[in-house]
Amino acid sequence: MRVLTMASQKGGSGKTSLAASLAVAAADGGETVAGIDTDPQGSLAAWGRRRQAQGLTVETAEPARVRQALDRAKASGASLAIVDTPGIFGAGVAIALQDANFVLVPVKPSILDVEAARPTVEQLQTLRKPFGLVLNQCLTSSQGRTLDAATALVRSGTLAPCMVALRADFLDAMTAGQGVTEIAPRGKAAAEVRLLWAWIAERMQETPARG
Ligand SMILES: Nc1ncnc2c1ncn2[C@@H]1O[C@H](COP(=O)(O)OP(=O)(O)OP(=O)(O)O)[C@@H](O)[C@H]1O
Ligand SMILES: [Mg+2]
Repeated sequence: MRVLTMASQKGGSGKTSLAASLAVAAADGGETVAGIDTDPQGSLAAWGRRRQAQGLTVETAEPARVRQALDRAKASGASLAIVDTPGIFGAGVAIALQDANFVLVPVKPSILDVEAARPTVEQLQTLRKPFGLVLNQCLTSSQGRTLDAATALVRSGTLAPCMVALRADFLDAMTAGQGVTEIAPRGKAAAEVRLLWAWIAERMQETPARG
């Protein structure tokens, strides 16, 4: 089983939204996915409860109990765990990060968010965790700003070569307990999430599986 952990010290970057849609895209791609929500807000767990489709569960776990939740996920046959974390780095996130094979850091394309990504990147470098940054909530009408953000982030670490735009499909999918690939399979959000999952899956192949 491999562990993908969503992390960013900046709240609202899209950790939970991407966790949900990546979970569905990964399941479509053949993974058996277990979601683990370590955020007291419980947004990913709430999405899981709204979900009608079978085959993808979300468990809530305090950071100190993430390892046990991962063990249960593995015992139940999961090939991929997706761990969501809160938007504030505390001891809890550091604990949750310990078991990550790969950490995805969503960043909104604004100077405030790009600057706020730096401490996250520094912490991941200190922990020697493989990680990738992805620009999320990009305005399709403002590609210059996205490009500026991408240029700044490339210096910080591995930037996903695909981006995720601000699209209503993400709002509808969260409401429906679905992924964007389910709510609008032919939509642009679905295409972007599939590309992002393909990139993450490749990166994760380079890291040893957990047990
Ligand atoms: N690509 C997107 N397109 C449209 N809306 C998005 C997108 N990504 C996230 N959002 C919206 O942005 C807001 C923040 O997203 P989300 O809750 O996923 O971020 P988060 O990083 O998990 O936040 P927190 O740090 O509070 O846990 C939500 O209202 C969500 O619906
Ligand atoms: Mg969240």
